[in-house]
Amino acid sequence: MRVFRSIQGYKNWRNEISTSSKLGFVPTMGFLHEGHLSLVRNSVQENNYTVVSIFVNPVQFNNREDLEKYPRNETRDIAMLEEAGCDIIFMPSIEEMYPEEITESYSFPALDDVMEGVFRPGHFNGVAVVVARLFKIILPNISYFGKKDYQQYMIIKELARQQFPDLIIKGMETIREKDGLAMSSRNVRLSVVERENADMIFQLMTRAKKLKEEFSPAEIEKHIANMLVNAGFAKVEYIQISDADTLEPVHQWKDSSKPRIFIAAWLGNVRLIDNMELI
Ligand code: PAF
Repeated sequence: MRVFRSIQGYKNWRNEISTSSKLGFVPTMGFLHEGHLSLVRNSVQENNYTVVSIFVNPVQFNNREDLEKYPRNETRDIAMLEEAGCDIIFMPSIEEMYPEEITESYSFPALDDVMEGVFRPGHFNGVAVVVARLFKIILPNISYFGKKDYQQYMIIKELARQQFPDLIIKGMETIREKDGLAMSSRNVRLSVVERENADMIFQLMTRAKKLKEEFSPAEIEKHIANMLVNAGFAKVEYIQISDADTLEPVHQWKDSSKPRIFIAAWLGNVRLIDNMELI
């Protein structure tokens, strides 16, 4: 496995490999967990080379404290990637990725103005800026994204459709802890008591599948919000049942053949997001 910190170093390697090789790419912000590793393993199976980027992208953080507290552990990440069969790590500095003022801006109507787009203004623009730059540097054939960040996955698919038509974007199922909590680098910031309560999100989303028989989407959203607050969640930002393809809110079950529930809630000072298909 090789580690490149400069764009030129990576490009030199990329120019040397055969043009017929298949290259899989997993972009990350590091502090890796099983969720990331499952993407890496999939890529290793399906491609000749797997490249993983580790870059905590300041441009996508709309909250300074979240950026400062974002967990990092380069040595551990490198060891985990070696073990998972990764070939190349691309680990640029902020100056390497953003040598000049950022001038590009992106908008994905209907996809970026709901849910995360409302509560994290500028977040998806920052994600699109870095992912587009990474795609241009890495030149992958396939790129892998976890569906825990389902809205991000939809936006990246749209970005690829507009700008990288030959690139395949693969969305992979969320990897969960034994109690159902979606794996996330931010979970380490939960206290012991918060961690015990954190599985409520999964439990309630699973219950929503059954409640669907009897209750409307709005009734379920309200019920889950109340249950989370009763369970000690500090704040519920949104509980939204939307169509999986358009992200449009589902008002009546007959409006969508692929309803999906999306949740963002604060437990202490950690913001958790998750989602689940309701079929
Ligand atoms: O999902 C993430 O970890 C980040 O948003 C990504 C895609 C690596 C871009 O910084």
